[in-house]
Parts: sequence; C-alpha cells; structure tokens
Amino acid sequence: MFSLDHNRISHVLRSRILGTGRALPARVVTNDDLAKRMDTSDDWIRERTGIEERRWVTGESCADLATAAARDALAAAGLQPSDIDAIVLATSTPDHFAPGVGVFVQRALEIPGIPALDIRTQCSGFVYALSVADAWIQVGLYRRILVIGAEVQSTGMDVSSRGRNTAVIFADGAGAVVLGVSDDPARGILGFDLHSDGTGAEKLWLDSPVRYHESMPIDRFDPAVNCLQMDGRDVFRNAVVRMPESVMAVLAKIGQPLEALDLLVPHQANLRISEMVQKTLKLRDAQVVNNIQRYGNTTAGTIPIALDEAVREGRVQAGDLVVLTAFGSGFLWGSCALRW
Ligand SMILES: CC(C)(COP(=O)(O)OP(=O)(O)OC[C@H]1O[C@@H](n2cnc3c(N)ncnc32)[C@H](O)[C@@H]1OP(=O)(O)O)[C@@H](O)C(=O)NCCC(=O)NCCS
Repeated sequence: MFSLDHNRISHVLRSRILGTGRALPARVVTNDDLAKRMDTSDDWIRERTGIEERRWVTGESCADLATAAARDALAAAGLQPSDIDAIVLATSTPDHFAPGVGVFVQRALEIPGIPALDIRTQCSGFVYALSVADAWIQVGLYRRILVIGAEVQSTGMDVSSRGRNTAVIFADGAGAVVLGVSDDPARGILGFDLHSDGTGAEKLWLDSPVRYHESMPIDRFDPAVNCLQMDGRDVFRNAVVRMPESVMAVLAKIGQPLEALDLLVPHQANLRISEMVQKTLKLRDAQVVNNIQRYGNTTAGTIPIALDEAVREGRVQAGDLVVLTAFGSGFLWGSCALRW
C-alpha cells in the first residue's frame, strides 16, 4: 500500500497545530437522568462504559457548536477568522442532509469565499480531516485551516429502553484546531495511518436518519432504521485491536519507537476500550488522555475536545511526541503522529 513519507519529501511544508478549542453544550445529562427515561442504571453505564455524565444540546445546532469551538481555537492561536484560508469539518450528524455543516461555519465566521469541506468518516472523522488539511498545507494550497470535529447525536437517538445500548454512550460536543504552516521544521504533523473495512459497515450504522424524531408520527418511525444501530461487542473487539495496531503503524512510519511516545489521545469511544488500548501498548496513566467520564462519546468531536483539554491542562509540552488514534463506524480507523 502506498504511503507518503513526510521525512523523505524536502520541498513540502510541514503543518502544525497553532491553537485548540472546544464547545460543549451547557446541559449536563447524568446517568441517573437517563435511568428516568429508559431501563438502565448509573452502575451499568459506569461499569460498561466509564461514562458518568454527558452534554446534550438544548436547541444548539451542530454548526453552532462547531462555530463556537472554531472561535475558541482561533483565540488560542491569536488569530482572527479573516486569517483562515479553508475549513475542513468532520461530522456524522450534519444539521441538514445538504449542504454540510462547513458552509454554515464559514457563514457564521463571515469569511467570504473560502472553501469548506465536510468529512463523513464518523468517529475517525477528525483524524481524516486533519490528514486532508495537512496535505493542503504541505502542497502550499492553503496556509491556515480550521479543522473541526462536531456532533449533535442527542436529537437523533432513540432515548427509550429500545435504544439504551447507544443512547447512554453518544453525546454532543465540538472541538477544533487551527492548522498552519510550521515555522519550525522539527515541530508539527509527522505522519498518518488510515484504514477502512466496509465489511463492518452494518455493525455501527444509521440507515436512514430522522432528526427530532419525537415529532414524527409514531407509525412511521422505526428506530431500527431511523436511529443508530450498534453491535457493541463486535465494535469493542475490533477497536481494541485496530487502535493499538494503528498507533504502532504510525510510529513505524515516522521512525519512532513506542518508548518515544509522550501522549496518546484516543477517540473516546468507551473508557474500557481506552484502558485495553493502554494495556496493550503498556502505557502509563499519565500518557493517555481520558475525558469520556464527563462528555460521553461525541464521535468526531472527541479527539479535538480531549486534545484541547490536555493542552490547557499543561499535559502537552513543546517537543512532545503525540499520537491521536481513532476507530469507529465504517469501520474506519487511523492515527496521526505529531511533534508538539
Ligand atoms: C455497548 C456495550 C457497553 C455493551 O456491553 P456488553 O457487555 O457488550 O453488553 P451486551 O450488549 O452484550 O448486553 C448485555 C445486556 O445488557 C443490556 N443492556 C444494553 N444496554 C444497556 C443499558 N444501557 N443499561 C442496562 N442494560 C443494558 C442488554 O440488553 C443485555 O441484556 P440481556 O443479557 O438481558 O440481553 C459494549 O458492547 C461496548 O462498549 N461496545 C463498544 C461500544 C462503543 O465503543 N461504541 C462506540 C464506537 S465508536
């Protein structure tokens, strides 16, 4: 399989994250809140997923969260919307079937004419989005790109007992980074490892989404078709193998041993998955970022939200080797290695 080796190409520009940001809805939904709506319990959810609470919107759109996260990342980078040349936005829950969410962010930020590309690779969305933005910067097409992962899952979920295996996991939130040309060739994005396996497509899928389904005539609403369906065990089994494999693959591509890794930011699918990935890779707690306890699984949002928290908590220092890794619906998975 062909794969670009960033280290062998001397004429391309290296991209670097200039600022990170996030936006979470204010409304906190605890496990006990869910237990009032469906046959579940705080104990079951904590034990199987690690989740204690999550955020659900109260009217905000995916574009609203994405725009707020983008503004936060711009502020962190010390930049204005007018400094941005392009938007690459990952989501599996666009507000409309067409157009995508990117153009609404472009409109809200009032940056006329810049390209806005939506990426539809679910939980791996942010890693894929970053790979596109990195390539655009490397070839000199754009110099500063907003890369966003944003999701509003709550308005499309079956929140009755029927949908309990997904409704307790998925949630709303957005994270963003500003990707720009690195002024230090030693720092920035070093490489990617990306994969798909469509034989697993129906293991975690939404056949025909219906948003705000509570207003739909009940005889026309079929949660098996209109809400996310998941074979949790199969997803779990694949995730705990693919994520460590991909971390090792991206480290091999950039010529670094596992021992050189400072921080792993895994997609927040389920705390048990992250714990198994950590165990397989023999990493210490301090080397792995986990915040699913507070936010649930925000699909394309988890990695940029977790990265932003890690950066603001001082867990990432200049020169650190960081790997972002994801696995999810598709199946799609992959990793990004970067020198902070
Ligand atoms: C979803 C997951 C937590 C379920 O755990 P599990 O141990 O595999 O549980 P099962 O699906 O086999 O279900 C076990 C029982 O719990 C029940 N159950 C499912 N969801 C429940 C809930 N929210 N509350 C209480 N009971 C629940 C099931 O109905 C089943 O009951 P039964 O034995 O009477 O049939 C687990 O499979 C998982 O974490 N998978 C990965 C999911 C994930 O990360 N998805 C995102 C990927 S990006």
